[in-house]
Amino acid sequence: MFAPKLIDRALRKYLPTKGVLAKAMRYSVFAGGKRFRPILMIEAARACGGNINKVMPAACAMETIHTFTLIHDDLPAMDDSNLRRGKPTSHKVFGEDIAILAGDALNTLAFKILADRCPEASGELAEGLLKVVEGQVLDLRSEGKKIGFAQLQKIHLLKTAALIESSVRMGAILSNARDRQIKALTQYARHLGLAFQIADDILDVVSEEKTLGKPAGADQKAKKATYPGLLGLKRAQKLADRHFRDAVQALKPFGRRAGELVEIAEFAVRRKK
Ligand code: IPE
Ligand code: IPE
Ligand code: MG
Ligand code: MG
Ligand code: MG
Repeated sequence: MFAPKLIDRALRKYLPTKGVLAKAMRYSVFAGGKRFRPILMIEAARACGGNINKVMPAACAMETIHTFTLIHDDLPAMDDSNLRRGKPTSHKVFGEDIAILAGDALNTLAFKILADRCPEASGELAEGLLKVVEGQVLDLRSEGKKIGFAQLQKIHLLKTAALIESSVRMGAILSNARDRQIKALTQYARHLGLAFQIADDILDVVSEEKTLGKPAGADQKAKKATYPGLLGLKRAQKLADRHFRDAVQALKPFGRRAGELVEIAEFAVRRKK
């Protein structure tokens, strides 16, 4: 599997170095994320016979966008969280004003990288991000409310699966993949994204802050709509496993070339953080 360290090395070149804004941007980007989406993009590209150097700028753009969504997700107006990636959140260190602006800058930087290096993938990222924002609205609006399975799945598809879908599609597009490869990868990512967020919801219940690098029990405290909340832990885990199997099934057309993508799906449901 592609090494997170190589993503970090590539990211370093794109981030500004001078001033408080640059400091805040680097603080969150290099706080120790899993680099799940950039690795996924690179492995999707490889499965389509693509070239890593061609995709790397887009993989970095994906990570700066993702980091932006986390900084804003943690703000007092949203999930109001004090810890992220094992460190105090951006607004705790730099103040809310700079945290908001660091998010804005990371968002804009992503599209600057794509405009310079991979313009053909920019529409995909924009589409994914628009869905995330819509999902975040629904997530916040559902706090304290009883919502059904269909609505919860919709929220998870938007707030989490959308960027995971964009990751594989960008990797495929930049590798000149065939339409049926893009379709298969999109199906894979949809199930992978749902499995990933169900696992996130489960970890919030069963794990602890030290392991997660973010507060545990935060969803119940904020009265969030979650899968374990709706189904109970056991059925939520079963559902994550089903999405894992469906994700793997969608990779059939790739045969042995999908080995790493299967491993990524395994990681999504078995991970401890
Ligand atoms: C956290 O994403 C937000 C969700 C969509 C659940 P990750 O679990 O990928 O967080 P990092 O990037 O490793 O910090
Ligand atoms: C995260 O959902 C989705 C986005 C950041 C877009 P959560 O709010 O569950 O993520 P964590 O648990 O804070 O990482
Ligand atoms: Mg949230
Ligand atoms: Mg949150
Ligand atoms: Mg969560």
